[in-house]
Formats: sequence, structure tokens, C-alpha cells
Amino acid sequence: MEKYYDSSWQRTMFCGEPRLEDSGKAAILNGWLRCRRDLGGIIFIELWDKTGTTQVVFNPELNAEAHKRANSLRNEYVLAVKGVIRQRPAGTENTDHETGLVELIVDDFIILAPSKLIPFEMDNADSVSEDLRLKYRYLDLRREAMQKNLMTRHNVTRFTRNFFGDNGFMDIETPMLTKSTPEGARDYLVPSRVNPGKFYALPQSPQIFKQLLMVSGCDRYMQIVKCFRDEDLRADRQPEFTQIDVEMSFITEEDIMKITENYLASLFLEILDVNVETPFFRLTWKEAMDLYGSDKPDLRISMQMTDLGKVFEGGENPFSSLVEKGGTIKGLKLQGGALLSRKELSDLENRAKALGAKGMANFQIKDGELKGPLVKFLDEERISLLKSLSEIEDGDALFIMADENWRKACEILGQIRLELGRERGMVEESFKFLWVTEFPLFEWDDETERYTAVHHPFTAPMNEDMEYLLTEPGKVRSRAYDVVLNGNEIGGGSIRIHSPEMQAKAFQALNFTPELARERFGFLLEGLSFGTPPHGGIALGLDRLVMLICGCKSIRDVMAFPKNQKAQCPMTEAPNKVDQKQLDELAIKSVDPLLS
Ligand code: AMO
Repeated sequence: MEKYYDSSWQRTMFCGEPRLEDSGKAAILNGWLRCRRDLGGIIFIELWDKTGTTQVVFNPELNAEAHKRANSLRNEYVLAVKGVIRQRPAGTENTDHETGLVELIVDDFIILAPSKLIPFEMDNADSVSEDLRLKYRYLDLRREAMQKNLMTRHNVTRFTRNFFGDNGFMDIETPMLTKSTPEGARDYLVPSRVNPGKFYALPQSPQIFKQLLMVSGCDRYMQIVKCFRDEDLRADRQPEFTQIDVEMSFITEEDIMKITENYLASLFLEILDVNVETPFFRLTWKEAMDLYGSDKPDLRISMQMTDLGKVFEGGENPFSSLVEKGGTIKGLKLQGGALLSRKELSDLENRAKALGAKGMANFQIKDGELKGPLVKFLDEERISLLKSLSEIEDGDALFIMADENWRKACEILGQIRLELGRERGMVEESFKFLWVTEFPLFEWDDETERYTAVHHPFTAPMNEDMEYLLTEPGKVRSRAYDVVLNGNEIGGGSIRIHSPEMQAKAFQALNFTPELARERFGFLLEGLSFGTPPHGGIALGLDRLVMLICGCKSIRDVMAFPKNQKAQCPMTEAPNKVDQKQLDELAIKSVDPLLS
């Protein structure tokens, strides 16, 4: 008689549960056939579900009928198996598995669903192309490592909602179909059928809405929210990603930093059992650039850069005129670097050149003697200044980056610092959090020949720099802060401008005409004019946070259905062509025949 899945076949245990103390118990397991071995007439399979696997045994001497049927079983078939748990015979235990001391001896089983031949072996998924994994993402997610990532992400979001809820934050949803928001990327647009020729933009963040919620008196807002940005993709960037978005009223930056630190420290304790020291270390943006050449320094690498302008100031040397013109000379000490060969040194210089440097000089101290192409230009006094500033000692090397542009010199040498640190095993195993503060409010964009907002145009300037807002915008520092973990920007926020007059001034500094400001952000300016409390907030990148917690290299590994590097989904094949009828309904005329 045909057997169907009914309550008599429902599992009594998950596949990861059987233990030695269950020996002798009858059990029903439901799951996927992960691996099958025929050994001396006995068939062994691993039955898998998200909790783990149990070895299931079809022994012809104990149950000839079940054994015969088991011959047809293949990988990833879905089975319901009834049997008895027993201790594995001595010598056949597998201590790598929590269920490895026991096995299930089959009484009866049914095939709930067969499976086609799978396109990649579950154990080998890491060696196949990522696009293949993404095309069959549902199979990829059937792997233990991916299940673990999904579970960690779930635990993080659950903890997050509880944490903020317990601290008086209200979880409020904001629209997905909205108006363009200014986070600096391109918008994803959605045409409106009811309003032909008009478009919604998917939010780059809920920034304006959360500010308006403060105008509404909501006081403490949080949301775990999807954001959409059409920008170049990297390992830590996706076109749609998730933020833990937070906003508070009647606060200063210290309050936001404190609640963020408390949240992150309690999260790491809960999820990883790791103690994170608070308050976090802080650097101003200028310090971070000067010491590490990055606005998101990886403090697990202890190397720091030093300013060596004074060594080359005046005198007869190749850099003296650069220093005179206000250029920058940065040094990076590499402990033990005197052992680098000529070839290794020139390879490093070539890498610096590939990053845009004109060159990268070096010094080495070997047997107490300073060597390098620039030594001949330096007298005793300058050499001792070089040694004391850079703290270079016998056996070390010192790399020199000179450029007219301070930021460029810092960034290139900062990148060399990162690469050397990673390649030479200098990355400490730990979680190094820090705040980066006092970012410039604006930066000059050569392409559009105007200032753009470094964070977004609602960020408040520092009170001390307010006077330069319209006269020297490049000089103004902002009340923005980023939180950085192990060289990744995991969050950013700021105190906002809460007066409409100041906001209008900021738009003016950004070269927005009053008409353009009104057209794009009129509703915000108007909102701000109805009694706005001082407020500020932060958004943490959930995907990046979970990636670091899981020890993954890409945020794609902690997202159930991410896009590939070309912003495509190999599984659904989105984005895809649409019917002419749909385009007609939306009053859209395509100029590219490929799209229609
Ligand atoms: P910001 O633009 O800095 O700030 O974004 C906050 C955090 O979101 C993460 N993030 C991303 N993660 C994955 N893919 C992306 N494409 C991506 N872009 C950003 C980063 C980043 O630190 N509204 C402001 C926040 C505020 O001022 O309160 C904002 O969105 O971890």
C-alpha cells in the first residue's frame, strides 16, 4: 500500500538531536539525504536538517525490504525515516559530529520527494563559482555554514529589536515608495502608473522621514530597514542592504555614541560571548588620516604613519621644495623590514605607483647603519631627527610617501600599510572598534565643480566652524561620527541641523538655488519650521555587522538572496525585460530596443 506523509511520519526529533542517552529509543527523523555509502552490503546515509545530521543504517540482515528500497536513494532526496537509535559499534564513532556516537537503525522509511542531480556538491560549494551558488541559492542555503549565518543574522535582528525596544525606542516603518533622498548614490526609480511620467525613488535611507518623526515628537525611533543605492558594488556593498536606523531627540552626540556602544557591546557579548571595551577609542578624521591613511582605520594592525616634513624641510634634498610648497612627507615604519630584498622593495614601490604615487622611497637600518637612496641628502642632524620621529631601529625599514596633496599621500601609504599588515601576518585576532569624528562637512567635487556633503546635507556643522559655512565651506567640520570595526565602516550618523534657516544656508553652501532646495526638500524645510527639537541619530549597516560577527569576507554570505557583482540575481534573472504592455501602461517609451 502506498504510504503518504501524515502525522505518523512526522519527526519526533531533529536530525541534529540524537545523543548517546537516546540509545534504545524509537525515533522518526525527517530530512534530506546528504551523503550515501554502501559498505559491505550495508547502506549508510547522513540525514540532514538545519540542526545537523544523523547517520541512518539500512542493514539487509535486519530489514531486507527497506534495504532493497534504499538502493534507489540519491543525494538530496527528502525522507521520513522510522527506526531505533543505537550506540555505534566501537571504532565507528565520529567525534566531529554531536550525533557521532549514535546511529538510527531503519525499520521503515518513505521518500517524500526525490531530487534532481544537484549542480554542485554541498561539501564543495566554496570552490564553485559564486554565480552558480546564487542561481541555486536555495540549495546553497541548505548548507550548514549558510544556515549558521542565517541563524546568526536572525539572532542579531531579534536582539536588536529587543535592545532598542527596552531602551524606549519605537519601531516605526517608513515608505519604500518615496522621493529621492540625498545619501550620495544614484536612486532606483519606480514609475507610477497612476501618475504617468512621474517616478517614486526607493529610499537610499529613511533619513528625512526619521527626522520628521522627531518633529512629530516620537523622541526615540528605530527601524531595521531596507535601503536601496545604485552604486558600484564591492564585497561590502549591495544595491539593497539593511540598516539598523536610529534617531533621538533632545540629545548630543555623546548620547548617540553611548547607546550605540552599549548596543554593540551587549550584542557581541550575547552573540559571540566577547567582551568589548567601552567607551570606544576615538580619533578625529584628521588624526585617522594622518596616522592610518584611512577614515576607517583597521586598528588590529598597530603600524602608524608619521609626518616627516621636518626632516626634509630646507636643505638640499629632493623633497625640500615640496615641503616649502606645503606638500606632505609621510613615513611608515616596518619592523624587520631591513630584511626585504631589493626586488621586494621595488615591488612595493610599484604597488604604490599603481595606487597613484609618483614613487615610494625607503630607508633601512642594517647593522646600525641607515641605508637608502635618500641618505646621501641628509646630514647627521636630519638623520637623527628621521630616526627619532619614525622610531626606526636596527633591522627596520621606513617607507616614504611624498605628495603635494596631503590626503593622497596619506591614503596611498595607508593602503600600503593595510597590505603589508595583512601579508605579513600583523593583523591581531580581535575586535577593534573606534569612532571617527569631526569629518569635513563638505568636500570639493572636481567633476561638478562644487561642494558636496560628505555625509548628507542635513548634518550639523561644528559650532566653532559655523562662521565659515558660506565663506570657506571646505574648512567646516561636521558633527558627524562613524563607527568602525576592524577597518570596516559599520555605521555613521550625525547631529542634524534643526533650524530651517541653518538648513537653507547649508543648501546654499552646496550651491543649491532656493528653488532647487524647495523642490527637492521643501517638505523637510517646512517640517523644520514647526518646532523641531534638537536631534541626531545613526544607522548601522546590519549586513556588514553580521558579516564581521560570522567571520565572512562578503556581505553576500550573510544575505539570503543577494545580487551578484553586476547587481543581477542569477536565480530570478532580475533585472529582466518587461512586456510592451507594461511599458505602455506606465507611459514609458524605451529608446533601447533591448529593453522593450
Ligand atoms: P550611511 O550612508 O553612512 O548613513 O549608511 C549607514 C551604514 O550603512 C551601511 N551601508 C551599506 N551596506 C551595504 N551596502 C551598501 N551599499 C551600503 N551603504 C551603506 C554602512 C554605513 O555605515 N542616513 C544616514 C545615517 C544617519 O545619518 O543617521 C546613512 O544612511 O555600514
